[in-house]
Amino acid sequence: MAFDLSQIENLNEEFTSFSSRKIIKTAIEQYDNIAISFSGAEDVILIHWAIQFSKNVQIFTLDTGRLHPETYEYLEKVRKHFDIKLEILSPDHKTLEKFTQEKGLFSFYEDGHKECCGIRKIAPLRRKLANVDAWITGQRKDQSPSTRAFVNLIEQDKAFAGEGRDLIKFNPLANMSSAEVWNTIRGNEIPFNPLHQKGFSSIGCLPCTKAVLPNQHEREGRWWWEEDTIKECGLHATNTTSDTIAKG
Ligand code: ADX
Ligand code: SF4
Repeated sequence: MAFDLSQIENLNEEFTSFSSRKIIKTAIEQYDNIAISFSGAEDVILIHWAIQFSKNVQIFTLDTGRLHPETYEYLEKVRKHFDIKLEILSPDHKTLEKFTQEKGLFSFYEDGHKECCGIRKIAPLRRKLANVDAWITGQRKDQSPSTRAFVNLIEQDKAFAGEGRDLIKFNPLANMSSAEVWNTIRGNEIPFNPLHQKGFSSIGCLPCTKAVLPNQHEREGRWWWEEDTIKECGLHATNTTSDTIAKG
């Protein structure tokens, strides 16, 4: 089954009365070939709910090679805790080796994160999304007033759809607050990334993420040397005005 694309806007409206759990259930019922994009952070609640409806749902993580040691350990913990097959996606070694030989390991501090994210995250994501009909992310509106305020519960992902292929993107947590997410984690005794206890509200790659102070917005710890409006890596290209960044 699949949703009628002409109904996506109506469904987005209808989903506003659904719980996040129910949106995940609906997504899994409608799409057999659907995958969860798990970053190794509080989006773990997607897995907690999804496996209640399907033991075989695909779950993948983009291993940039630059994640924190805590995140690698956490990914393993999640794999065992939920007894899931976690697909760990790596960048293309030829492209990456060419890039690091030319620019070294920290070029993002000098000329921005787009190129590195393009190679380490976007290209592997594009590879994965070429083989699914729908994907589920843990994006929330409250993560970024500047780039995520309009995140839909369901949308057509034109940035990653291939030629002649449709791709649906579900963001079931879009309307949840951070507090609600954390109540779900605590209430269900779901294991969480220990970096959260060290002041990391948002977790990305080690060289590009730092802890934030109380009351500092969570995305201030991401790519902190760059402007707020470009604190997106291209994974969620539909959030930004230009989807060219998604082309990696
Ligand atoms: S990012 O675009 O800035 O990196 P963020 O960390 O806020 O994204 O996470 C939002 C959602 O994007 C996550 O819930 C997840 O669905 C997806 N995501 C982010 N990073 C990864 C990753 N390394 N692997 C898989 N999915 C990811
Ligand atoms: Fe590279 Fe930083 Fe992007 Fe990770 S977040 S892929 S290290 S630029």
